[in-house]
Amino acid sequence: MAVARTLSIIKPDATARNITGKINALLEEGGLRIVAQKRLRLTKAQAQAFYDVHRERAFYDELCEYMISGPVVVQVLEGEDAVQRNRKIMGATNPASADEGTIRKAFGQNVQENSVHGSDSPENADKEIRFFFSEIELAG
Ligand code: CMP
Repeated sequence: MAVARTLSIIKPDATARNITGKINALLEEGGLRIVAQKRLRLTKAQAQAFYDVHRERAFYDELCEYMISGPVVVQVLEGEDAVQRNRKIMGATNPASADEGTIRKAFGQNVQENSVHGSDSPENADKEIRFFFSEIELAG
């Protein structure tokens, strides 16, 4: 597997608890390198656009409200098989089902406030990285 990149978001429940460093340590220990990172506050329109794929789901409105309830840290992670590697480090969407040692098991509070987002495919990783980062920010 080649070196690749994926998009990660540290969500409002985690920034509120000041645990972004602890989450970053787990990403780095898992073999990923944080090659771009910034903290920002999403607008409603940005949250809706980012999660457009979930527009028809019952949890969509609540999810968008939650994602604008506080700052997020968006980051580009690089490493071997980055998309799958990050999904393994994050654990299952629902923290109650996540494996021991994963970010969501350690820090997730419930299926919505699950501390992190990670791209689910290389194609979506490309799209999601470009959603947040410009060419010049990705040169590092
Ligand atoms: P994420 O990986 O960011 O992708 C979609 C998000 O929707 C998910 O993490 C959760 O934060 C949120 N979500 C809320 N309820 C559900 C649910 N029932 N199933 C899946 N995702 C949910």
